[in-house]
Amino acid sequence: MKRIAVLTSGGDSPGMNAAIRAVVRTGINQGVEVIGVRQGYQGLVDGLFTFMDAGSVSGIINRGGTILHSARSMDYKTPEGFQKAVDNLHAAGIDGLVVIGGNGSQRGNYELHTKADFPVIGVASTIDNDLYGSDYTIGFDTAVNTALESVDRLRDTATSHDRIFIIEVMGRSRGFVALHVGIAGGAEVVLLPEMTWKLDEVVNTLEAGYKRGKKSYVIVVAEGAAHGETLAKQVEAATGFETRATVLGHVQRGGTPTAADRVLASQLGGFAVRHLLNGKRGVLVGEQNHAITTTPLEEVWSKDKPLDPEQLELVTVLGA
Ligand code: F6P
Repeated sequence: MKRIAVLTSGGDSPGMNAAIRAVVRTGINQGVEVIGVRQGYQGLVDGLFTFMDAGSVSGIINRGGTILHSARSMDYKTPEGFQKAVDNLHAAGIDGLVVIGGNGSQRGNYELHTKADFPVIGVASTIDNDLYGSDYTIGFDTAVNTALESVDRLRDTATSHDRIFIIEVMGRSRGFVALHVGIAGGAEVVLLPEMTWKLDEVVNTLEAGYKRGKKSYVIVVAEGAAHGETLAKQVEAATGFETRATVLGHVQRGGTPTAADRVLASQLGGFAVRHLLNGKRGVLVGEQNHAITTTPLEEVWSKDKPLDPEQLELVTVLGA
């Protein structure tokens, strides 16, 4: 290979820049040219290619977001758009592609691998941490810590005013962020999209705590499990306790990546390039059991990563 490309796709996640830096500098170290594709798969369709040198990734390891920008491209999903993307890759003399992103992004990567037989490799990056093939994904640690800071602040107000706080965190279909924030924030109740839960059970838990003298509560909900504002109204009506909702939203996506995310991103990005240059393709580079691993892209998008059952039990036992 003489020239490889890198793109970031889907929701931005803190540490994506560190991964771009690792891809660019490892590529240069291994003697290949590196092209940055702007705006994810849309940039492949539109041919938004930029030559990256070592200096182009200076001073970004500590920055959230992605210098290459990101998008959720609809054009790429059409047969015409997909063909344009493939043609543009060939026309630019690109021999391999590194895709830094989450589930949807790795699905798009799989399409290039199977339908166009293009050499691709994925790097596990999403704040949701819902990617099969990586115990932790780039950005998850930062997002959890960002949300946790808010939970700690809201706990102060919950305690001072004897209130219930419902805190809605990101996670449309998976509850990894909510589960980790719930454990680390000492939440009394955690509601996840993977659970079937009933308002009555939540109310019973709160009332049981009240009988023991508990006066304030923090309930962490994933956005896919409940709508924070609606739940707050229902809980207040059912318990008579003053209840407030805070929806954290996109504040969880940006911001300075933690050391853990920077190290993970640097390792995965560097490994992905070396692996691609060694002739490997069609896999996701992730971290499992503290080792860098590869998983076929087909498994990545077709399999669900389970929540840790011990953590699920823990959050219930400790929140009681
Ligand atoms: O996948 C990352 C994520 O932040 C999810 O947690 C959230 O549900 C979704 O993206 C929000 O997407 P958008 O920024 O497109 O509204």
